[in-house]
Amino acid sequence: MNKKSNFSSRIGFIFAAAGSAVGLGNIWRFPYLAAKYGGGTFLLIYLILAVTFGFTLMITEIAIGRKTGKSVLYAFSSMNKKFNFLGILASIVPIIIFPYYCVIGGWVAKYFSTYVCNPAKGTVNGDYFQGFISSTVQPIFWFTLFILATALIVMLGVEKGIEKASKFLMPFLALLSVGLAVYTLTLDGAMDGVAYYLIPDMSRFSFNAVLAAMGQLFYSMSLAMGIMVTYGFYVSKKENLEASVRNIEFFDTAIAFISGLIIIPAVFAFSGGDESKLSAGAGLMFITLPDVFGNLKYGNIVGTLFFLLVLFAALTSAISLMETIVSVIQDKFKVKRINACLIVAGLAFLVGIPSSLGFGVWSEVQILNLSILDFFDFISNAILMPIVAFLTCIFVGYIVKPKAIIDEVEESSVFKSKKIYTVIIKYVAPILIILILISSILNTFG
Ligand code: PHE
Repeated sequence: MNKKSNFSSRIGFIFAAAGSAVGLGNIWRFPYLAAKYGGGTFLLIYLILAVTFGFTLMITEIAIGRKTGKSVLYAFSSMNKKFNFLGILASIVPIIIFPYYCVIGGWVAKYFSTYVCNPAKGTVNGDYFQGFISSTVQPIFWFTLFILATALIVMLGVEKGIEKASKFLMPFLALLSVGLAVYTLTLDGAMDGVAYYLIPDMSRFSFNAVLAAMGQLFYSMSLAMGIMVTYGFYVSKKENLEASVRNIEFFDTAIAFISGLIIIPAVFAFSGGDESKLSAGAGLMFITLPDVFGNLKYGNIVGTLFFLLVLFAALTSAISLMETIVSVIQDKFKVKRINACLIVAGLAFLVGIPSSLGFGVWSEVQILNLSILDFFDFISNAILMPIVAFLTCIFVGYIVKPKAIIDEVEESSVFKSKKIYTVIIKYVAPILIILILISSILNTFG
């Protein structure tokens, strides 16, 4: 595939990749996990893993993309023919995730619009959420809008669409999250939440906490779904990859950390320190937090800003998913960007509808005891992503050898962490990933 459009600047690339990394996972999963696994203890484990394990996987993917100049479909096979299947496997992941990610993006857009319309106190509650997701037309309407917004940006291309949008959205997102955190810290009772979040509780340290941190890291850094390979091939040969990855990592971790500072104290302040209110996922974001907002003096403004933050986070992640699929389609079928975008948007619409209806008229449909959306989530996150990551480590560690990646990084600058990189990619990462795979299967069905 020709490099038709590239990131025009280092900062553009960093914002775009950070935009992919910062998503729903940072806001609705990280705070919950941190609260569950001992606050400060979890933060520490997460940080150590981010600069070792996360760094290694991310720089690997970006270097593969830049080295081969191919979409993820052919990137591996262009380095070794036998690994054609890995490109196919890695391309399937974003294809599965994109439609249902847009369904949730649609929910976020709906909540943003709800708060903009200044709802009466107490009306945005659990019933409101249930009523909304179980209806047929409304969620599909918002989901369609979300796909269209994503498609519009991707259609404009890497530099004029993705880079421009990220350069605007990411700084704004950072400001919003800092502003909201400062505000929630001033609420009565918030400091108990801060203490709970930040003070390490060593009694909660467990192997499971390490696994949870690793699983989260993996998802949060948008690894093993072809995204970083895709963004990698738009990066210039002059770019210092090591420094870029450190920046992306920092951005991703900082936003996750600040989300915890927004959510945990806010929930604590209104539940009198009841940590059980910090549930994971949709319940936290669409029921618990709106409850908190309903109790605040300026709750509707806070709600508006909060859902705007989440909307930006979800949008930049969806963009990276779509770009990955679009680059695969362009590479495979040699079609123009605009046509590839139309195909992907149309297919995502069709495939997303069952996920949306799975909370309403199709709620009877269960696969492996999961709703349709949760099933797609399970297959991609719990199964395919660890497999792709594991095979990528084997591919780099033993087939093409770490030197191939190190040389690529050194095209632009000295690879300072190359020794530790080699150890992690060959030995540490593959073992850790197998453990993630086993634990995520057990967690879903255990
Ligand atoms: N990294 C994103 C997050 O933390 C997750 C994600 C990004 C998922 C892109 C899919 C695609 O939420």
